[in-house]
Amino acid sequence: MRSILVTSALPYANGPIHLGHLVEYIQTDIWARFQRMRGHECYYVCADDAHGTPIMLRAQQEGIEPEALIERISKEHQADFKEFLIGFDNYYSTHSPENQMFSNLIYERARDAGHIERRVIKQAYDPEAGMFLPDRFIKGECPRCGAPDQYGDSCENCGATYSPTDLKNAVSAISGATPIEKESEHFFFKLGDFEALLKDWTHSGHLQPEIINKLEEWFEAGLSDWDISRDAPYWGFEIPDAPGKYFYVWLDAPIGYLASFKNFCDREGIEFERFWAADASAEVHHFIGKDIAYFHTLFFPAMLHAAGFRMPTAVHCHGFLTVNGQKMSKSRGTFIKARTYLDHLNPEYLRYYFAAKLGPGIDDIDLNLEDFRARVNADLVGKVVNIASRCAGFISKRFAGKLATTLPQTELFDASAAASEGIAQLYENLEYGHAVRQIMALADQANQYIDEAKPWVLIKDPDRQTEVQEICSLGLNLFRNLMVYLKPILPHLAEEAEAFLNCPPLHWDSVKTPLLDTQIHRFKPLMTRVEQEALEAILADAQAAPEETPTKTPAALAAEPLAETIEFSDFAKIDLRVAKIVQASEVKGADKLLQLTLDLGGETRYVFAGIKSAYQPSDLVGRLTVMVANLAPRKMRFGVSEGMVLAAGPGGKELYLLQPDAGAQPGMRVK
Ligand code: 2FM
Ligand code: ZN
Repeated sequence: MRSILVTSALPYANGPIHLGHLVEYIQTDIWARFQRMRGHECYYVCADDAHGTPIMLRAQQEGIEPEALIERISKEHQADFKEFLIGFDNYYSTHSPENQMFSNLIYERARDAGHIERRVIKQAYDPEAGMFLPDRFIKGECPRCGAPDQYGDSCENCGATYSPTDLKNAVSAISGATPIEKESEHFFFKLGDFEALLKDWTHSGHLQPEIINKLEEWFEAGLSDWDISRDAPYWGFEIPDAPGKYFYVWLDAPIGYLASFKNFCDREGIEFERFWAADASAEVHHFIGKDIAYFHTLFFPAMLHAAGFRMPTAVHCHGFLTVNGQKMSKSRGTFIKARTYLDHLNPEYLRYYFAAKLGPGIDDIDLNLEDFRARVNADLVGKVVNIASRCAGFISKRFAGKLATTLPQTELFDASAAASEGIAQLYENLEYGHAVRQIMALADQANQYIDEAKPWVLIKDPDRQTEVQEICSLGLNLFRNLMVYLKPILPHLAEEAEAFLNCPPLHWDSVKTPLLDTQIHRFKPLMTRVEQEALEAILADAQAAPEETPTKTPAALAAEPLAETIEFSDFAKIDLRVAKIVQASEVKGADKLLQLTLDLGGETRYVFAGIKSAYQPSDLVGRLTVMVANLAPRKMRFGVSEGMVLAAGPGGKELYLLQPDAGAQPGMRVK
């Protein structure tokens, strides 16, 4: 038995989980579930990444303490993860006593071994806000192409990278003031001290080939000292021997893996050292996106080593998610939050689709919505669940729910069981797409067998009843083996299958022993098709979702990029009407929605509007507004929305419902 600790990157506690995040959590969760099914001791821990400037500013903007913000966001994250069946053994926070203890310990050990240096540096400072500015909070004109409103580290227009001092007409994104340069003492971790160690580690089987190449480039460029401190005001842990100085969020974030695990160990009575001591025999696997490889393959292993902890067994990097072939984008309406997806679709569809697309490399994966629908419907509904539905009826109706005592044809069952080790190897090596193809080939064989055996014909012959029972029992056993192989991906479906087959929880070796001579339950449809309308509703909600990034000035927020030009005929398709709000109420279970009852001049419409953050229901009653009256009705978790009201602004408290001048009447066309 192996002992394995698995982690996914810790999501920032200032924004929602989106489908891009889920690629990683689903990839990791499948691997952890697979290891457990194989009988290994495997723990999967995570936490919210709760420190740093953006979280501090967002809390300020909402007028709450950072503790309250991170608590709220953590609840939202955990609710999303739970519904996506991400089975963490522990979900914690980097703002925790364990994390402070480990951060201090690792820093002090590194310092005492001479790996920390103090130096005075000059940095951009916002004299109005009274704080040093991270690059991302300085905006100005790109020094290369002149594009306005670019961040301090890179230009979104021409792709140039530069330092914030190169920006023309730079301003602070927090206050709008012109930044000045100011000196302050910073603490540096001397990464170069670990060059030989890291080079050796890089080539000892812990990393993917693409990442090894990347590291070669970084070694070539030279390992610079890493600035691990930030000046007050900062939301994080104060450095123990330096009042007013804080650990940079990226110092304590990966240490959060240890902290979350320690919290879990203390609760469960597991020995932490068994996993993290320098000579630990347990495995530690980190799953991350390729963009944060530098932190996880250089800084973090070096810090762990400096402090006498073991280094990771493996860092597994994945690529980014694109939607319909393009980068997820709010303006294109392809920035899909986990919650938006959950409002309309079964999470296992997405788990399956991502699995089918995932490989061991760092290529980006694309969520093509049409392909998603076709694939889920064809594979899960059309192939896998279909096997059970074709066989179960006969067993229930003709054989009182009892499976046969023998199988008619052992080759087919044996072949399906024999695929076990090959499929296991594919899971082990993160070749999920490949594994899914093999599993679907087994599903095809099972369906073909039933096609040829034709139990629906044989059942008419009184002399061949036992044969039908055996054929259907074989079909159901082939289905059961498929559910074993798919269980890491589709844990909920597998659970339903276990209940239907009335068998103990499936583990990897369950495929060896067929289910015979036992009673099964009546078959209920285990999964329904993905409908086009649900996908359209997700895209429409994503398009309508308010802007989440709060740390911009009102002026910056007002300047959202303009959309592409459309023809007049496109515009003319939109039927805009004056509507009177006759009733407004909160929606149970929805934090952003209000339900509005609208009078359209005789016709009544019920609409869910994402305006709760800016309006009290009572302020709205009696008001006139403008609505899109010919938007196709959209099914949401809370009911059907029959149109959309129009509001301006980035979202949150800054949302302004459109209102016609006095005199306009409900139902009037807006043109
Ligand atoms: O990039 C991110 O979203 C970070 N919050 C990931 C941190 S992973 C680990 F180091 F904590
Ligand atoms: Zn530029």
